[in-house]
Amino acid sequence: MPQNGIVSIIDQRKLPWAFECIDLKSCAEVAESIRDMAVRGAGCIGATAGYGMALAAGEADSWEGLETRAAHLIATRPTAVNLAWAVNRQLNRLKKVPHQAWVDVARTEAEKMAHEDAAACEQIGKHGLELLREISQRKADGVVNVLTHCNAGWLAFVDHGSATAPIYAAKAAGLKVHVWVDETRPRSQGARLTAWELSQAGVPHTVIPDNAGGHLMQHGLVDIVITGADRVTRQGDAANKIGTYLKALAARDNGVPFYVALPSSTFDWNLSDGVTEIEIEQRDGAEVAWVDGPDAKGVLRNVRMTPEGSPVANYGFDVTPSRLLTGLITERGIFPAEESALAAAFSDVVPLSVQ
Ligand code: MRU
Repeated sequence: MPQNGIVSIIDQRKLPWAFECIDLKSCAEVAESIRDMAVRGAGCIGATAGYGMALAAGEADSWEGLETRAAHLIATRPTAVNLAWAVNRQLNRLKKVPHQAWVDVARTEAEKMAHEDAAACEQIGKHGLELLREISQRKADGVVNVLTHCNAGWLAFVDHGSATAPIYAAKAAGLKVHVWVDETRPRSQGARLTAWELSQAGVPHTVIPDNAGGHLMQHGLVDIVITGADRVTRQGDAANKIGTYLKALAARDNGVPFYVALPSSTFDWNLSDGVTEIEIEQRDGAEVAWVDGPDAKGVLRNVRMTPEGSPVANYGFDVTPSRLLTGLITERGIFPAEESALAAAFSDVVPLSVQ
């Protein structure tokens, strides 16, 4: 956010058909952009909310006013913990300084969080690269087939992505990588965003329907699954885009390693059992019933998929229990999805609540 107090974001609702940015000038506009998923992906909404708090710092004339805006931001999307993490970090920082210093301090903190997010993803790439290198070395053709779900790419973070960081690092290291991209209904983040990202980066990939992964695994066509996460509990249960759990079950049945890649800002140290304790966002059924896309003439249309009047359900996320995960790829290395290992590796991490 420059001195003019404008937060500029890529409008992810327009991709892959148009690359447009929007200027956000108030905390309320930031909140709306997150709720409507103009900006999305755990790391990216955390970073954007950090800047939203810098705008809030300029708007609020009291601590109560700041807290109200913070609560409004947090309520926009309940599952991805990076959002609450960033907002609470700003509150913790601001409560130690006088009102007149709020804007400068919040802006600096937002910049810091954004840089940390990019740096963490870069490290995830370095650690994950070693997994892909090892697979490549033992295959006759050297090609590593990665399956991923949703978009945990650079669009979902400040840079690099989480699940995609090892893929980009592998490409840079000269490894042969091919990515199976789950389309990821209902909002099709895989088909629209991950496929677009990989195309831009020249990474060979194939978009598949969400139900194809099990079949591909049965036929030896997937060497490794890497997904992102929106919230991971202290025992390693991982909430990610709806459909991830089914991929983990298929991976387990077929002996395919399944990794979740995340920066430490995605851990929720307050929760243990992800299946019962993580709040799963439910979104408007219109996302299931209607689909966007250009027609043959390139005109953007919004077309109905379901019979009028058929009820729809739109659960945004599911939880993959830690027992199905081969490991967690973090900025500090790769760890088993187990409470003791995670506690040892992240013992210094600040808890989420306002101190
Ligand atoms: O609803 P979204 O698009 O914000 O969902 C979040 C995701 O992109 C995925 O669940 C992703 O794999 C984790 S976020 C890095």
